[in-house]
Amino acid sequence: MIHKHQVLIIGGGIAGMGAAIEAKEAGLDVIVVSLTHPVRSHSTCAQGGINAALGNHPEGKDDSWEKHAYDTVKGSDFLADQDAVELMCKEAIPRVYEIEHWGASFSRYEDGRIAQRPFGGAAFPRTAYIADKTGHQIMHVMYQRSVKLGIPIVYDRLVFKLARNEDRVTGAIALNLITGELEAYQADVVMIATGGYGRVYANTTNSINNTGLGMVLAYRAGVPLQDMEFVQFHPTTLVGTNILMTEGARGEGGYLRNRLGERFMKRYAPEKMELAPRDIVARAIWTEVLEGRGFPGNYVHLDLTHLGKEKIMERLPQIRELALDFLGIDMIYDPIPVQPGQHYSMGGIAANKKTETPLSGLYAAGECSCVSVHGANRLGGNSLLETAVFGKIGGKEMVKFIQEKGPHNDEESVRKALEEAKQEVEELLNKDGDEDLFELMRELRETMKEYVFVFRDEKGLKTALDKIENIKKRYKNIKIKTKTRHYNLELERAISLGAMIEIAEAITYGALYRKEFRGAHYRTDYPKRDDKNFLHHTLLYRQGWDKLPKIGKKPVVITKWQPVERKY
Ligand code: FUM
Repeated sequence: MIHKHQVLIIGGGIAGMGAAIEAKEAGLDVIVVSLTHPVRSHSTCAQGGINAALGNHPEGKDDSWEKHAYDTVKGSDFLADQDAVELMCKEAIPRVYEIEHWGASFSRYEDGRIAQRPFGGAAFPRTAYIADKTGHQIMHVMYQRSVKLGIPIVYDRLVFKLARNEDRVTGAIALNLITGELEAYQADVVMIATGGYGRVYANTTNSINNTGLGMVLAYRAGVPLQDMEFVQFHPTTLVGTNILMTEGARGEGGYLRNRLGERFMKRYAPEKMELAPRDIVARAIWTEVLEGRGFPGNYVHLDLTHLGKEKIMERLPQIRELALDFLGIDMIYDPIPVQPGQHYSMGGIAANKKTETPLSGLYAAGECSCVSVHGANRLGGNSLLETAVFGKIGGKEMVKFIQEKGPHNDEESVRKALEEAKQEVEELLNKDGDEDLFELMRELRETMKEYVFVFRDEKGLKTALDKIENIKKRYKNIKIKTKTRHYNLELERAISLGAMIEIAEAITYGALYRKEFRGAHYRTDYPKRDDKNFLHHTLLYRQGWDKLPKIGKKPVVITKWQPVERKY
């Protein structure tokens, strides 16, 4: 049986649910197909807040969406598309109020206005927050709204293939993890909103489901991936697990100290100190470690002890609990050990500011997409914003698409994709080689952590690429021990590993190509930004499993801000 809907949203995080709400409110027949239930999606892990120039903070009265846009462009090291950034920052203000009116219980000032805290790279305190559980709350509000509207959501579904014809996308195929059956979804318009790929790295803040499979769906269907070399490493992740310790901790006044007790950020960003953008803070921490001023175990201290119990309990209760649970350290009394870890993907499925991809009828929003509003480095608080704003915009655009183009009625292409998907799953299930799937995954993740981290160079990147190509070959020879259909997580991991390998290859290949230092991409062998040769987006076109991608270029949209040197 083929499930038929007008709108298919793949992914139930904030971007996907925002799009679904918009399309449903316009009267369309929408379905959300997701790996997890929305309130377990990775959006719920966003802690510190969402940026909008509300001007509520006593020091933020002169803030404006234009200043937010400039900070974002500067933070991006001038690689973000400025028209998309302007749109996002302008829409931020009504969108935050809309979500508030839907029921999000933002932290507030005495007079009832939404409170705002300082975040890295921002000229004014403009990050609206809900203690340190902002994503969790917004996600719940979105979910409640979807229940009210009666949006059908099916979860425990791994969407692993798109259906398309010559002209447009026609649907997608999902593995129902509960039954092991394949399900075919036909739709007139499809949005991918599946989040990032953090699990490609051994040291990440991301949930286990963040494998990048959603990006690879589009890539395998002929859509290029954009700016994949730009990977964000969050400066403060908990040692051992790399659980996020929100930037809000520094926003509330937390210090970073090395083994000598120094607030070392004075050497790297004398004005902004701990509130420099993330790429700068992450590199600073790693430099301290590499130069021997970190603690054994490769970390520095995030010191909040001077904030006092009351402030910590009110503003940062979740990270206190996490540090207590995972390390037994109470940040009210003791500093916590932190180190940079993979956190976010600036790159993703090539999309424009309407969230349209080059494949007609296919849209992408949120972290899996590259619109591009973050360029070479994203500012903290702009990712929840991107999901909230572009999810909604994508929803509206999909409505327009259906109004203009109408239904496709191409059931045949969906059946064909279903047959191919069945064959792929059978082949995988029958794999009886001598390579251990989990060992390959471990090697891949360690390779990325070792060679494609904060500092990169040609030798390390080539080593990484060789290792990835070796893993790719061995992947053909894996063994699947679990042959049952019901909740076969080994099968799920095998499908996901195929995607993770392609993502790792794309990141590394893009990083090798880009011979310059820009934002989060620091090449020690090319330590200067090179606007003459690299002020463009990188596009990667898939050439097949056994080949490296083809590289293309796309100009950066500059509306008003010419690139200048980035100083903090
Ligand atoms: O540090 C944080 O709370 C993360 C925020 C973000 O990635 O935008």
